[in-house]
Amino acid sequence: MIIAVDGPTASGKGTISKQLARHFALPFLDTGLLYRAVGWTLGEQGGDADNPADALAACDFPGALLDNPGLRSEVVGGLASRVSVHPAVRRALDKRQKDFAYQPAGAVLDGRDIGTVIAPDADVKLFVTASADARAVRRYEEMKRRGEQVRFDDILADILRRDERDQSRATAPLRPAEDAYLLDTTNLTIDAAIQQAIALVDAKISGRRDKDPA
Ligand code: DC
Repeated sequence: MIIAVDGPTASGKGTISKQLARHFALPFLDTGLLYRAVGWTLGEQGGDADNPADALAACDFPGALLDNPGLRSEVVGGLASRVSVHPAVRRALDKRQKDFAYQPAGAVLDGRDIGTVIAPDADVKLFVTASADARAVRRYEEMKRRGEQVRFDDILADILRRDERDQSRATAPLRPAEDAYLLDTTNLTIDAAIQQAIALVDAKISGRRDKDPA
């Protein structure tokens, strides 16, 4: 079974995907980390994120980089969003994601274009959203907890900028697949959102079983 989870930044899609993978005992890939690794490598190489050749040169990163907690920073997230607009970068990361999605054991992948480009025939597609305000509050609280000095307005502006860039790029923009379930987490606790996601997958599996000949 392939479960595709897409959605904007701080929507809760990462936590939901991880819990889905655990619940259904499936391998999990956070595809945003691949773009973050490119952003990080580009920073190390002193490249320009808006230059396609610099961004492509940064795609050849060592696998161990994916374990670096530094990839999770806001700065690297911004670089990842910028390098991800280049078609050559998306092509360079394509096979790795498709191989993961179509492994025999099945998989859960989270990202922006999993249901539309990477695994268009996924068994279940979720599109996880939340209002920009709700996402900014979550991000703000998370960063405060880590002891970072942040201003709410800066976080909100950054989220809006990232949404705009991810949705408006020409190649594989962030949008729900036609057959995706929309899961709006604005007014849900994370536990309630996880339970809804599990229920959606269960409903899809049992619907498929009902249709199969006995
Ligand atoms: O999910 P994230 O915040 O870690 O992703 C960082 C950036 O990477 C995101 O702003 C856009 C890009 N990305 C993408 O273009 N396609 C994906 N499948 C995953 C992430």
